[in-house]
Amino acid sequence: MIVVGVDGSLPARAAVAWAAGDAFRRHQPLLLVHAVDRQPYQISKFPDPDRPDSLRRTGQRALNEAVALVHERQPSVEVTTVLEDGAPALVLRQQAKAAAEVVVGTRGLGGITGTLLGSVSDHVAGHAEAPVVVVHAKSRPVHGQVVVGVADTPECRPALAYAFEQAALRGSTLRAVHAWRRPVRAFGTELPHEMEEERAAREETVRACLRPFTQRYPDVSVVEDVRYADAVEALTRTSEEADLLIVGSHGRGVVSAALLGSVSKGVLHRAPCTVAVVRGAG
Ligand SMILES: Nc1ncnc2c1ncn2[C@@H]1O[C@H](COP(=O)(O)OP(=O)(O)OP(=O)(O)O)[C@@H](O)[C@H]1O
Ligand SMILES: [Mg+2]
Repeated sequence: MIVVGVDGSLPARAAVAWAAGDAFRRHQPLLLVHAVDRQPYQISKFPDPDRPDSLRRTGQRALNEAVALVHERQPSVEVTTVLEDGAPALVLRQQAKAAAEVVVGTRGLGGITGTLLGSVSDHVAGHAEAPVVVVHAKSRPVHGQVVVGVADTPECRPALAYAFEQAALRGSTLRAVHAWRRPVRAFGTELPHEMEEERAAREETVRACLRPFTQRYPDVSVVEDVRYADAVEALTRTSEEADLLIVGSHGRGVVSAALLGSVSKGVLHRAPCTVAVVRGAG
């Protein structure tokens, strides 16, 4: 099952359209979820007998429109809806517990501009167990390329599994990007042969990470892309020519199991394409 967060906004509509396509490709049913968020209205403090119903009605309307969009885009996809009271991020996480993935828009109905990501998407991307797809509303040409960020740790395996599956289903090229940097030295400069040795070692590590998947998906054409660069910068740049960018939820610097790593967070806020965040194995 694929879970989609619906709040009646244009970005959420884009999320529904993306999820309909993915549900079709993966032969999965869709569950459209709207959380009725009473918090901003402080209903408990100022009870208003009319307000709760009007909130539910608005939510139901958003869900009905989303169902219509799925029927229009992918008539064969099975679709159900849930309308539930609660904080949207918590309701989505709860509903997504047994899901194959959860899909949200970058933004919703909230008015704060200037940030690329709304608070619901931000929270869900950092906390959901399932892969979280944050869909960009802007329509772009199809590039036929999926990009995955490869961290050289075992936690990158679930992200690679997701990336290979997506590339195979879409018939896209998979570009596996590993960016690395050396810490800045206080004295002296890098010796070229040290740099070359490290580059070769990293290329070998990336190849070893990919090997089980290249064997399982012999039809997916893979481009190994190891660069001396900042990871967020490299992934953001590369994703200008990608349909989907996949990152793990964290790499080496695991501060807390519940938080996103700096690379995942960085690309979510900057990448120009749809981003999938896949939780690590650990
Ligand atoms: N009430 C909700 N029910 C279900 N999904 C929601 C709800 N609110 C938001 N979402 C999902 O989260 C996505 C991002 O919306 P979010 O609320 O994070 O952004 P925003 O409204 O622009 O910002 P904020 O709410 O932080 O002011 C939406 O596109 C939608 O997929
Ligand atoms: Mg919102």
